[in-house]
Amino acid sequence: MVEIDGPRLLRSLRELRTFGATGSGVVRPTFSDVDMTARRWLVAQMSEAGLEASIDGIGNVIGRSPNPGPAVVLGSHSDTQPEGGWLDGAMGVMYGIEVARSLLADPATAQLAVDVAAWADEEGTYASALGSHSFVGELTDASLAATNADGESVASALNRVGLAGVDPICLEPDRHVAYLEAHIEQGPHLEASGNRIGVVTGIVGISGATVRFRGEQNHAGTTPMSMRKDAAASLFEFGVRFRSRFAAVAGPASVWTIGNLGVHPGAESIVAGEAWCRVQYRDASVQVMDRFADTLTALVAELDDEGPCRVTVETGDRGMVPVTMDPAIVAVLGSAAERRVPGAWVEMPSGAGHDANTFAPHLPTGMLFIPSIGGVSHDFAEDSHDDDIVLGCCVFADAVEAYLTSL
Ligand code: GLV
Ligand code: MN
Ligand code: MN
Repeated sequence: MVEIDGPRLLRSLRELRTFGATGSGVVRPTFSDVDMTARRWLVAQMSEAGLEASIDGIGNVIGRSPNPGPAVVLGSHSDTQPEGGWLDGAMGVMYGIEVARSLLADPATAQLAVDVAAWADEEGTYASALGSHSFVGELTDASLAATNADGESVASALNRVGLAGVDPICLEPDRHVAYLEAHIEQGPHLEASGNRIGVVTGIVGISGATVRFRGEQNHAGTTPMSMRKDAAASLFEFGVRFRSRFAAVAGPASVWTIGNLGVHPGAESIVAGEAWCRVQYRDASVQVMDRFADTLTALVAELDDEGPCRVTVETGDRGMVPVTMDPAIVAVLGSAAERRVPGAWVEMPSGAGHDANTFAPHLPTGMLFIPSIGGVSHDFAEDSHDDDIVLGCCVFADAVEAYLTSL
């Protein structure tokens, strides 16, 4: 089996962390200057690894193996949340480069074809999993029109960063046979159970919506309570019912969140005339996701009927569909884990969404997890132990080699 270079992997991950480093975390939103600098650094890393690397027309960094197929695609994302950790996405990208480099450098495996990718905008600064959707041929006009918090569209951003007119690089059905992604768990289960590796069996679906409340702006001292059309009060009422109504139709592992909200104009002496919130819900079952969508629609209609504010809902970003991982890849990752850490790995679902959601309908797809310290992610405090990072890459490399040589 091929041996990866653990110290080299850790060094390169720490170098990637410097692009956008903020305290112990990273702020590297898609198409920011620092994101594009990191993408150019990734092109150099992939080229040094022996891949033919470039940034394509949607911002994906793709390193193509010089070998003919069949090829596996190894990837994850290099963008972060507005307050992100240093490993979310970055680790999977650097695993891909390390595995490709190690396989190409070993005469016993140098003929195997591994293409590596750092996808654009998995975190949805503009549209979640934008880059992987482009790769599988699912880029829509709506995706190109999607905007970031400053109102900049994807199309304008591509122009700004010099990618307008650059061709996208897409999945090649005659070459690509599988997609594998490594990631930190981002939850507490591996650490709590003492397992070193998670082999993912399926990934939740994610849907979101914006709920808007329109009332009447007025003086907070002189407007009698009975005459108010307080958009903030309507938002809070929605929040309370959202918790209980979703609980009533949830599955055992469902989650739902109001992660962002606002009131206008946002002053304590003003009854708010407008308010909004962003809701998100996740489950591995399409039926549960459909129940959540219906519950949200019914709740919005109920509050709109009750008044005094108008309440509407907009579903925007397509989100992610729930998917199951390919059984053959689950088996190969499990065997690789058992060889390195007998009895200290587990099959598990993923509560986080990944670019692997995009791939599963198109290619046999699999994912490997390593433990997150304290189960923390989407926070500057996100971290994993060095020995887990290196072990995960060893298992990943073994599995990629075994999968490709079994074809
Ligand atoms: C991906 O980052 C997610 O929010 O699941
Ligand atoms: Mn993330
Ligand atoms: Mn991620």
